[in-house]
Amino acid sequence: MKIFLDTANIDAIKTWAVTGILDGITTNPTHLSKEGADPVEQVKEICAIMKDGQVSVEVTQKEPEKVYVQAKEIAKLADNVVVKVPCHKDYYVTIRKLIADGIPLNVTLVFSLTQSLMMCKLGVRYISPFVGRLNDIGDDGAGLLHDIRRMIDGYGYETQMLAASIRGVQDLNDAIMAGADVATVPVTVLEKATEHVLTDKGIKKFDEDWQKLGIKQFP
Ligand code: E4P
Repeated sequence: MKIFLDTANIDAIKTWAVTGILDGITTNPTHLSKEGADPVEQVKEICAIMKDGQVSVEVTQKEPEKVYVQAKEIAKLADNVVVKVPCHKDYYVTIRKLIADGIPLNVTLVFSLTQSLMMCKLGVRYISPFVGRLNDIGDDGAGLLHDIRRMIDGYGYETQMLAASIRGVQDLNDAIMAGADVATVPVTVLEKATEHVLTDKGIKKFDEDWQKLGIKQFP
């Protein structure tokens, strides 16, 4: 399972990139706006840090023809860019054209099994079902992940399921158990996902016991 970091923050990306657990980054207009820097430079820097991973960058245009042109420009920013396009029927033709042009796509803002099916039929690289935002409206984000997994495997589609809008460790657990190909997680969730109180407690206890020996060097 691939883990992407859901942020455009350079410091956080650098911190986690060196750990070896990151396979990519997902940005969105909200993330880039929050950083306040020139988005082109920001994206280029992220792509350079994550040179062995994939970096999703979302279109900001709305008209399908403009989305097409912008997506092609975004794809030129770096070799490891994946272009995010919203899952809306107005963009189906655009998505088809971009795939024909060889542009890797992550279709974002996916909220249903039927939307997912359409994107699998078009052959996009990733679909991003938004777990947290579905849960926000009382729907079942985890259930959608399981349904999509079954649909992709059952029909043999090549599209990968990228669990997005992960708000807590439980959402990440759900993504793992649903067999998501990728989960994109915010920094706060990734931090929590690496921790356990018994690990900290165990380290402390072993150290206390070890100190009782009074040995300065080992081995
Ligand atoms: C992923 O690609 C999205 O940018 C992100 O997961 C959205 O998360 P949110 O619903 O917490 O804003």
